[in-house]
Amino acid sequence: MIHNCKDIITMEEQLAGSGMRALGMIPDGAIAVSDGKIVDLGTNAELMKTYKADEYIDASGLTALPGLIDCHTHPVFVHTREAEFTQRLAGLSYVEISRTGGIRSTITSTRAASDDQLFELAANRIRKMIALGTTTLEAKSGYGLDTRSELQQLRVIKRLAEELPITIIPTFMGAHEYPVEYRSDHAAYIKILCEEMIPAVAEQGIAVFCDIFTEAHVFSLGETRQILGTAKKFGMRLKMHADEIEPIGGAELAAELGCISADHLGAAGEAGIQALKAAGVVPVLLPATLFSLQAKSYAKAREMISAGLPVAIATDYNPGSCNCDSLPLTMSLACLQMGMTPSEALCACTFNAAKALGLEQSHGSLKVGKTADITLWDIPSLDFIPYHLGSSHISRVIAQGKTIFQEQP
Ligand code: NIG
Ligand code: FE
Repeated sequence: MIHNCKDIITMEEQLAGSGMRALGMIPDGAIAVSDGKIVDLGTNAELMKTYKADEYIDASGLTALPGLIDCHTHPVFVHTREAEFTQRLAGLSYVEISRTGGIRSTITSTRAASDDQLFELAANRIRKMIALGTTTLEAKSGYGLDTRSELQQLRVIKRLAEELPITIIPTFMGAHEYPVEYRSDHAAYIKILCEEMIPAVAEQGIAVFCDIFTEAHVFSLGETRQILGTAKKFGMRLKMHADEIEPIGGAELAAELGCISADHLGAAGEAGIQALKAAGVVPVLLPATLFSLQAKSYAKAREMISAGLPVAIATDYNPGSCNCDSLPLTMSLACLQMGMTPSEALCACTFNAAKALGLEQSHGSLKVGKTADITLWDIPSLDFIPYHLGSSHISRVIAQGKTIFQEQP
């Protein structure tokens, strides 16, 4: 029994668009949990009368929120790329850096690593995310770019899902970049993707989603159609890195292909937004990436919310464009750079992020029958989370009913 909560924000009346602001608040609340699931929630007085628990967590003065959901990350790699950060400060762009370094520079060391080494590195990164409130994480492969090494990354993600106390959803992203050996023979790499990698990933059943970096300097719209078309035939659900830097029609293609989400969308325009709405695609916005890349403009979150889209946000944690593991900071950036309200930002990394992963029946809000992923915060009001930049006010993180992180007094 989690009792004496100052308030509980259930995120239960969630709808797309303007409904993102209706949070569902229970003052003086309590949550009863059994077998990792929420069995009841309501006022403290009611629940303390009804139940006798074998464990009590006193949440006096604390606000209970759903566990945060980071629905877009790239955590499996060896070395970080802070030198590129400095190169960008000196004026080089992400695309310019990608010609000589970028994603390809992460491939060599990642290919050479053992399963144990990749596991330890990623597990340590994810532990930091847990301490910042993340209880569900989507994790992509994509730093191997050959069949053996992509399968190894997915194997590592499977082990992370088994051994870490949070929910981890695996995504295959062999179409993250052209490896250096196929730099001038795209057709040959696409053949490997479609004839070797996707069938092997599907046969092993180790990825829920297939994602691709669709952008002028990487995979074209035609190449994306071919690769995601194959993944769909093999039973994978689709995601796209779409219109991050240039508006090439990625959002429209994500709609045409029936992707569950279209991610980034920094440059997507009105036609793209309408297409996403018509096809029921969740827009996953990654403001920390555009902030890291010193972008002049951001995804049109306000237009998307007005269009009735269930806008989600995520960190995009990766070694290149965005070394950010904090959803609270991402919420701040969603508010400051995209004009979202604090409640919209919270909805975007709970309920709507669950939607981007197809988990909205079981995760993303506090409701009877749902997974007991609960965060307890020491905050005067919800607005305080994005207002206090870069600081954590998490007191306790509970995943599947068990405490997995507690702030040290
Ligand atoms: O989402 N856009 C593609 N992938 C990552 C960047 C990965 C990298 O630079 O290593 C992203 O921004
Ligand atoms: Fe990404």
